[in-house]
Amino acid sequence: MTITHQDELDGLKAIGGIVARTMQAMAAAMEPGMTTRELDTIGRALLEREGAVPAPEASYGFPGATCISVNEEIAHGIPGERVLKPGDLVNIDVSASRSGYFADTGASFRIAPVCPSLDRLCRDGRRAMQIGIAQVGHGKPLAGIGNAIGRFAQANGYTLIRNLASHGVGRALHEDPEEVPTWPTKGKRRIPRGLVLTVEPFLSKGGIWAEEGDDDWTLRSSPAAPVVQYEHTVVATDRGPIIVTLPG
Ligand code: CO
Ligand code: CO
Repeated sequence: MTITHQDELDGLKAIGGIVARTMQAMAAAMEPGMTTRELDTIGRALLEREGAVPAPEASYGFPGATCISVNEEIAHGIPGERVLKPGDLVNIDVSASRSGYFADTGASFRIAPVCPSLDRLCRDGRRAMQIGIAQVGHGKPLAGIGNAIGRFAQANGYTLIRNLASHGVGRALHEDPEEVPTWPTKGKRRIPRGLVLTVEPFLSKGGIWAEEGDDDWTLRSSPAAPVVQYEHTVVATDRGPIIVTLPG
């Protein structure tokens, strides 16, 4: 969607805060011995309490309220019997709707003890997202997001997953523009005023493609390598980006 009125921004910020707080609370609740289904149940309860509807389930029939991807899983991991262990790299992606507005956020977290190279990957994954967000603004090239992220990744010896794009969001979980690359491209499209989109690069130490695993949902890295994802929902304004998925 493109935002033209303050009430639209308010509605988006309200659901943005809900998904952000839900993700943070899930991350704080993570501990070894817990299953990913237990973690998802915590997220579902928080969303319900706020009157929000889990978007992957409602929009696509995803078998869970949130996506929880552990280690070799990089996205769309199904909550289930998998038990969290010390040292795990866990991506939590929360998207939901309320009053017709959708917001989408995600982040990768580590369960102690953390190895230093994964720590660096997580820190730089967040930086890659911030570098992409800084390119969001009315009239700026949409490809500027991926080109800036690509420069950062290359300068620091990382790869980017090249078939998991960012996307328009706001009135649905995925809407126009359906594919916003977070890797270098030559597109000419410019960002319209008020566009709502995610910025969610997948930064890796060698991964290039997301491939389907054993079920219809879970994606893995090819070649196999650690991957992190950080995601905010942002609005493109004349004065640059407004991040709506903040805990408030
Ligand atoms: Co997401
Ligand atoms: Co997304």
